[in-house]
Amino acid sequence: MSQRTMEAHYRPNWNLTQAAGLIGYNCGYAESPGCEPFGEHQRALVFRLLGDTHIGPDTTILDVGCGIGGPTGWIHERYNPRRVIGLEYLASSTCAAEDRWRDKDARPFFIQGDAHHLPVADESVDVVFNLESALHYADKNAFLAECRRVLKPGGTLCLGDITTNKKLLFAPIAWLNLLPSQFNSNIHLWSCDDYLAAFGRHGLTLLRSERAAQPVADSLADGLEEIKQMDRAATRGFRGRILFLDFLKSLFRSGKLAYDLFTARRK
Ligand SMILES: C[S@@+](CC[C@H](N)C(=O)[O-])C[C@H]1O[C@@H](n2cnc3c(N)ncnc32)[C@H](O)[C@@H]1O
Repeated sequence: MSQRTMEAHYRPNWNLTQAAGLIGYNCGYAESPGCEPFGEHQRALVFRLLGDTHIGPDTTILDVGCGIGGPTGWIHERYNPRRVIGLEYLASSTCAAEDRWRDKDARPFFIQGDAHHLPVADESVDVVFNLESALHYADKNAFLAECRRVLKPGGTLCLGDITTNKKLLFAPIAWLNLLPSQFNSNIHLWSCDDYLAAFGRHGLTLLRSERAAQPVADSLADGLEEIKQMDRAATRGFRGRILFLDFLKSLFRSGKLAYDLFTARRK
Protein backbone atom coordinates (compact mmCIF):
# COMPACT_ATOMS: atom_id res chain seq x y z
CA MET A 1 0.00 0.00 0.00
CA SER A 2 1.50 3.32 -1.07
CA GLN A 3 1.60 6.37 1.20
CA ARG A 4 -0.36 8.23 -1.49
CA THR A 5 -3.28 5.82 -1.54
CA MET A 6 -3.53 5.60 2.26
CA GLU A 7 -3.20 9.40 2.39
CA ALA A 8 -6.15 9.76 -0.02
CA HIS A 9 -8.23 7.49 2.20
CA TYR A 10 -7.42 9.45 5.38
CA ARG A 11 -7.78 12.94 3.87
CA PRO A 12 -11.58 13.14 4.62
CA ASN A 13 -10.90 11.90 8.19
CA TRP A 14 -8.31 14.65 8.58
CA ASN A 15 -10.79 17.25 7.29
CA LEU A 16 -13.42 15.93 9.72
CA THR A 17 -11.08 16.09 12.72
CA GLN A 18 -10.08 19.66 11.81
CA ALA A 19 -13.72 20.79 11.48
CA ALA A 20 -14.84 19.01 14.66
CA GLY A 21 -11.78 19.70 16.85
CA LEU A 22 -10.89 16.02 17.28
CA ILE A 23 -7.43 14.52 17.75
CA GLY A 24 -8.21 10.84 17.26
CA TYR A 25 -9.28 8.75 14.30
CA ASN A 26 -11.01 5.90 16.16
CA CYS A 27 -14.77 5.14 16.39
CA GLY A 28 -14.99 5.73 20.16
CA TYR A 29 -16.80 3.83 22.93
CA ALA A 30 -20.03 5.11 24.51
CA GLU A 31 -20.85 3.48 27.83
CA SER A 32 -23.99 5.58 28.01
CA PRO A 33 -24.93 7.00 24.62
CA GLY A 34 -25.88 10.66 24.39
CA CYS A 35 -24.02 11.73 27.53
CA GLU A 36 -20.64 12.89 26.29
CA PRO A 37 -19.11 14.50 23.22
CA PHE A 38 -17.61 12.20 20.60
CA GLY A 39 -14.05 13.24 21.52
CA GLU A 40 -14.65 11.84 25.01
CA HIS A 41 -15.88 8.57 23.48
CA GLN A 42 -12.63 8.33 21.51
CA ARG A 43 -10.70 8.80 24.72
CA ALA A 44 -12.91 6.26 26.54
CA LEU A 45 -12.10 3.63 23.89
CA VAL A 46 -8.37 4.13 24.50
CA PHE A 47 -8.67 3.55 28.26
CA ARG A 48 -11.20 0.75 27.82
CA LEU A 49 -8.63 -1.07 25.68
CA LEU A 50 -5.83 -0.45 28.17
CA GLY A 51 -8.08 -1.76 30.97
CA ASP A 52 -6.00 -2.54 34.06
CA THR A 53 -2.74 -3.04 32.16
CA HIS A 54 0.08 -2.06 34.49
CA ILE A 55 1.72 1.21 33.40
CA GLY A 56 4.25 2.62 35.83
CA PRO A 57 7.10 5.17 35.74
CA ASP A 58 9.44 2.60 34.10
CA THR A 59 7.03 1.47 31.40
CA THR A 60 7.77 1.86 27.69
CA ILE A 61 4.67 1.89 25.45
CA LEU A 62 4.62 1.59 21.69
CA ASP A 63 1.41 2.85 20.03
CA VAL A 64 1.38 1.26 16.56
CA GLY A 65 -0.83 3.00 13.97
CA CYS A 66 -1.14 6.06 16.20
CA GLY A 67 -2.85 8.27 13.60
CA ILE A 68 -2.64 11.97 14.48
CA GLY A 69 -1.45 11.13 18.00
CA GLY A 70 -4.41 11.98 20.24
CA PRO A 71 -4.51 8.56 21.97
CA THR A 72 -0.69 8.46 22.30
CA GLY A 73 -0.72 11.81 24.09
CA TRP A 74 -3.68 10.87 26.31
CA ILE A 75 -1.78 7.77 27.46
CA HIS A 76 1.29 9.88 28.17
CA GLU A 77 -0.72 12.49 30.10
CA ARG A 78 -2.55 9.95 32.26
CA TYR A 79 0.36 7.67 33.24
CA ASN A 80 3.50 9.72 32.62
CA PRO A 81 5.50 6.56 31.89
CA ARG A 82 9.18 6.44 30.96
CA ARG A 83 8.52 6.58 27.25
CA VAL A 84 5.56 6.56 24.86
CA ILE A 85 6.39 6.08 21.19
CA GLY A 86 3.74 6.67 18.52
CA LEU A 87 4.43 4.87 15.26
CA GLU A 88 2.42 5.77 12.17
CA TYR A 89 2.58 4.79 8.50
CA LEU A 90 1.55 8.19 7.10
CA ALA A 91 4.32 10.78 7.32
CA SER A 92 1.72 13.59 7.28
CA SER A 93 -0.04 12.10 10.34
CA THR A 94 3.29 11.66 12.14
CA CYS A 95 3.95 15.39 11.58
CA ALA A 96 0.43 16.33 12.77
CA ALA A 97 0.97 14.23 15.90
CA GLU A 98 4.35 15.90 16.55
CA ASP A 99 2.76 19.35 16.17
CA ARG A 100 -0.13 18.47 18.49
CA TRP A 101 2.12 17.75 21.49
CA ARG A 102 5.17 19.92 20.62
CA ASP A 103 4.57 22.50 23.37
CA LYS A 104 4.32 19.99 26.23
CA ASP A 105 7.38 19.44 28.43
CA ALA A 106 6.77 15.75 28.93
CA ARG A 107 5.41 14.27 25.73
CA PRO A 108 5.39 11.22 23.51
CA PHE A 109 7.60 11.06 20.47
CA PHE A 110 6.55 9.95 17.04
CA ILE A 111 8.17 7.98 14.26
CA GLN A 112 7.09 7.10 10.76
CA GLY A 113 7.12 3.35 10.16
CA ASP A 114 5.26 0.24 9.14
CA ALA A 115 3.57 -2.15 11.56
CA HIS A 116 4.87 -5.07 9.49
CA HIS A 117 8.52 -4.12 10.26
CA LEU A 118 8.67 -2.28 13.58
CA PRO A 119 11.84 -0.16 13.77
CA VAL A 120 12.26 -1.05 17.44
CA ALA A 121 14.79 -3.25 19.26
CA ASP A 122 14.00 -6.80 20.42
CA GLU A 123 12.44 -7.09 23.90
CA SER A 124 12.48 -3.33 24.48
CA VAL A 125 8.75 -2.57 24.98
CA ASP A 126 6.44 -3.29 27.95
CA VAL A 127 3.12 -2.52 26.22
CA VAL A 128 2.21 -2.56 22.54
CA PHE A 129 -0.98 -0.54 22.04
CA ASN A 130 -2.74 -1.00 18.70
CA LEU A 131 -6.13 0.61 18.21
CA GLU A 132 -8.25 0.29 15.05
CA SER A 133 -5.23 0.07 12.79
CA ALA A 134 -4.63 -3.65 12.16
CA LEU A 135 -7.64 -3.76 9.81
CA HIS A 136 -5.29 -2.13 7.30
CA TYR A 137 -2.47 -4.69 7.62
CA ALA A 138 -2.20 -7.10 4.72
CA ASP A 139 -0.14 -9.50 6.85
CA LYS A 140 -1.39 -9.48 10.45
CA ASN A 141 0.74 -12.53 11.24
CA ALA A 142 3.85 -10.49 10.41
CA PHE A 143 2.61 -7.74 12.72
CA LEU A 144 1.90 -10.16 15.60
CA ALA A 145 5.35 -11.73 15.12
CA GLU A 146 6.79 -8.20 15.40
CA CYS A 147 4.76 -7.60 18.58
CA ARG A 148 6.23 -10.76 20.09
CA ARG A 149 9.74 -9.72 19.03
CA VAL A 150 9.63 -6.19 20.50
CA LEU A 151 7.74 -7.07 23.71
CA LYS A 152 9.71 -7.95 26.81
CA PRO A 153 8.82 -11.38 28.26
CA GLY A 154 5.63 -10.82 30.26
CA GLY A 155 4.88 -7.66 28.23
CA THR A 156 1.33 -6.85 27.11
CA LEU A 157 -0.36 -6.40 23.76
CA CYS A 158 -3.58 -4.32 23.84
CA LEU A 159 -5.22 -4.65 20.43
CA GLY A 160 -8.60 -3.29 19.35
CA ASP A 161 -9.83 -3.95 15.83
CA ILE A 162 -12.85 -4.14 13.55
CA THR A 163 -13.52 -7.83 12.84
CA THR A 164 -16.12 -9.95 11.07
CA ASN A 165 -17.46 -13.49 11.03
CA LYS A 166 -18.94 -12.79 7.61
CA LYS A 167 -15.81 -12.66 5.49
CA LEU A 168 -17.59 -13.72 2.29
CA LEU A 169 -19.84 -10.68 2.55
CA PHE A 170 -16.80 -8.41 2.70
CA ALA A 171 -14.80 -10.24 0.03
CA PRO A 172 -15.61 -7.55 -2.61
CA ILE A 173 -13.62 -5.08 -0.47
CA ALA A 174 -10.56 -6.81 -1.94
CA TRP A 175 -11.53 -5.24 -5.29
CA LEU A 176 -11.62 -1.78 -3.70
CA ASN A 177 -8.13 -2.51 -2.41
CA LEU A 178 -7.00 -2.42 -6.04
CA LEU A 179 -8.16 1.19 -6.53
CA PRO A 180 -5.63 4.03 -6.20
CA SER A 181 -8.10 6.37 -4.47
CA GLN A 182 -9.82 7.30 -1.19
CA PHE A 183 -12.16 4.32 -1.76
CA ASN A 184 -9.18 2.00 -1.37
CA SER A 185 -8.70 1.81 2.39
CA ASN A 186 -6.54 -1.32 2.23
CA ILE A 187 -8.95 -3.28 4.42
CA HIS A 188 -8.14 -6.89 5.36
CA LEU A 189 -10.60 -8.05 8.02
CA TRP A 190 -10.00 -10.93 10.40
CA SER A 191 -12.56 -12.64 12.63
CA CYS A 192 -12.31 -12.75 16.41
CA ASP A 193 -11.38 -16.44 16.12
CA ASP A 194 -8.60 -15.62 13.63
CA TYR A 195 -7.07 -13.36 16.28
CA LEU A 196 -7.47 -15.90 19.09
CA ALA A 197 -5.77 -18.61 17.01
CA ALA A 198 -3.00 -16.24 15.91
CA PHE A 199 -2.21 -15.15 19.47
CA GLY A 200 -1.55 -18.82 20.28
CA ARG A 201 0.72 -19.21 17.24
CA HIS A 202 2.74 -16.13 18.16
CA GLY A 203 3.36 -16.98 21.80
CA LEU A 204 0.78 -14.53 23.17
CA THR A 205 -1.60 -15.67 25.94
CA LEU A 206 -5.06 -14.09 25.93
CA LEU A 207 -5.85 -12.33 29.22
CA ARG A 208 -9.07 -10.55 28.33
CA SER A 209 -11.39 -9.95 25.40
CA GLU A 210 -14.46 -7.81 24.95
CA ARG A 211 -16.99 -7.70 22.12
CA ALA A 212 -17.54 -3.96 21.86
CA ALA A 213 -19.59 -3.45 18.68
CA GLN A 214 -22.64 -1.99 20.45
CA PRO A 215 -20.87 0.70 22.53
CA VAL A 216 -18.80 1.54 19.44
CA ALA A 217 -21.98 1.87 17.32
CA ASP A 218 -23.52 4.06 20.06
CA SER A 219 -20.44 6.25 19.98
CA LEU A 220 -20.65 6.64 16.19
CA ALA A 221 -24.33 7.52 16.53
CA ASP A 222 -23.41 10.32 18.97
CA GLY A 223 -20.63 11.53 16.65
CA LEU A 224 -22.95 11.59 13.65
CA GLU A 225 -25.52 13.52 15.69
CA GLU A 226 -22.84 16.14 16.49
CA ILE A 227 -21.94 16.42 12.81
CA LYS A 228 -25.63 16.97 11.98
CA GLN A 229 -25.57 20.07 14.19
CA MET A 230 -22.69 21.52 12.17
CA ASP A 231 -23.11 24.19 9.56
CA ARG A 232 -23.36 22.49 6.14
CA ALA A 233 -20.48 24.55 4.77
CA ALA A 234 -18.26 23.24 7.57
CA THR A 235 -18.76 19.65 6.40
CA ARG A 236 -17.25 20.28 2.97
CA GLY A 237 -14.38 17.85 2.43
CA PHE A 238 -15.88 14.94 4.36
CA ARG A 239 -19.53 14.54 3.35
CA GLY A 240 -18.88 11.15 1.74
CA ARG A 241 -17.15 10.03 4.94
CA ILE A 242 -20.28 10.91 6.95
CA LEU A 243 -22.29 8.43 4.82
CA PHE A 244 -19.54 5.85 5.24
CA LEU A 245 -19.56 6.25 9.05
CA ASP A 246 -23.34 5.93 9.11
CA PHE A 247 -23.07 2.71 7.09
CA LEU A 248 -20.32 1.46 9.41
CA LYS A 249 -22.61 2.10 12.39
CA SER A 250 -25.38 0.00 10.75
CA LEU A 251 -22.93 -2.83 10.07
CA PHE A 252 -21.96 -2.87 13.78
CA ARG A 253 -25.60 -2.75 14.87
CA SER A 254 -26.63 -5.59 12.55
CA GLY A 255 -23.73 -7.82 13.65
CA LYS A 256 -22.18 -7.93 10.17
CA LEU A 257 -19.12 -6.25 11.63
CA ALA A 258 -17.80 -6.66 15.16
CA TYR A 259 -15.32 -4.67 17.22
CA ASP A 260 -13.02 -6.70 19.47
CA LEU A 261 -10.76 -5.57 22.27
CA PHE A 262 -8.01 -8.00 23.28
CA THR A 263 -5.35 -8.04 25.96
CA ALA A 264 -2.65 -10.68 25.55
CA ARG A 265 0.60 -11.38 27.38
CA ARG A 266 3.88 -12.36 25.76
CA LYS A 267 5.03 -15.69 27.20
C1 LIG B 1 -8.45 4.37 12.19
S1 LIG B 1 -6.85 5.05 12.37
C2 LIG B 1 -6.63 4.91 14.13
C3 LIG B 1 -5.55 5.83 14.62
C4 LIG B 1 -5.33 5.84 16.14
N1 LIG B 1 -4.97 4.54 16.63
C5 LIG B 1 -6.51 6.38 16.88
O1 LIG B 1 -7.12 5.63 17.67
O2 LIG B 1 -6.83 7.56 16.70
C6 LIG B 1 -5.74 3.80 11.72
C7 LIG B 1 -4.31 4.30 11.54
O3 LIG B 1 -3.46 3.18 11.19
C8 LIG B 1 -2.49 3.68 10.29
N2 LIG B 1 -1.88 2.56 9.56
C9 LIG B 1 -2.41 1.86 8.52
N3 LIG B 1 -1.54 0.92 8.09
C10 LIG B 1 -0.43 1.02 8.87
C11 LIG B 1 0.80 0.31 8.93
N4 LIG B 1 1.09 -0.67 8.07
N5 LIG B 1 1.71 0.68 9.86
C12 LIG B 1 1.44 1.69 10.74
N6 LIG B 1 0.28 2.41 10.72
C13 LIG B 1 -0.66 2.06 9.82
C14 LIG B 1 -3.28 4.63 9.40
O4 LIG B 1 -2.45 5.48 8.66
C15 LIG B 1 -4.16 5.31 10.42
O5 LIG B 1 -3.54 6.46 10.93
